[in-house]
Amino acid sequence: MLMAAIYDRFMDASERACLAEWRAELLSVAAGEVLEIGAGTGANLPLYGADVERLVLTEPDRFMARKLAPKLAPVARRRRVELLSARAEALPFADASFDFVVTTLVLCSVGELDRALRELRRVLRPGGRLLFLEHVAAGDERPDRLAWQRRIEPVWRRIAGNCHLTRVTDRAIERAGFELGALERASVRKALPWVRPSIRGWAR
Ligand SMILES: C[S@@+](CC[C@H](N)C(=O)[O-])C[C@H]1O[C@@H](n2cnc3c(N)ncnc32)[C@H](O)[C@@H]1O
Repeated sequence: MLMAAIYDRFMDASERACLAEWRAELLSVAAGEVLEIGAGTGANLPLYGADVERLVLTEPDRFMARKLAPKLAPVARRRRVELLSARAEALPFADASFDFVVTTLVLCSVGELDRALRELRRVLRPGGRLLFLEHVAAGDERPDRLAWQRRIEPVWRRIAGNCHLTRVTDRAIERAGFELGALERASVRKALPWVRPSIRGWAR
């Protein structure tokens, strides 16, 4: 409940500094039938273009879903929109259901990363794309930051909705059988130091 109450305010400076721009760029290619997992308070909603014909959002946290639901009406004027309570590790969709799967700042929080990624791959159509923007473990060039992330992680997970700080998410994406098409690394500006290292891109 706390997370849902403070999330937008907590993210505001970083959204304005860089995240909003990164989200828009990432989602500009989305088209057809699109699944977004862990949609949170709906930061991505206004960014889906006219080529998205069906948008399915999942959000397992009922407090987040309560903030998200009232924002669906304007988006639903242009396409079919559905909101479901489902965990990424067990998605209630048939194999090969979607052209794109979107995950932004979610893979840090899922309980079982490898299982979730296998599910995302299962529901993507052949030739479909995973679009991701995630904060991750600091790289080898910042051993000091990685050490801090390791130290803080147990407490951070408890106060920030199971958010892990030391996941090497790009490697997990590959481990699930995806091939990375584009991968950019950047520091999230105006964020707390331990959530700054980020990756964004797509995989098929
Ligand atoms: C940091 S918020 C990100 C929200 C949104 N995607 C964004 O970009 O602002 C993480 C979200 O992941 C959701 N989440 C946590 N565990 C999940 C799981 N196992 N499957 C799907 N979503 C999950 C949380 O409920 C929360 O809404």
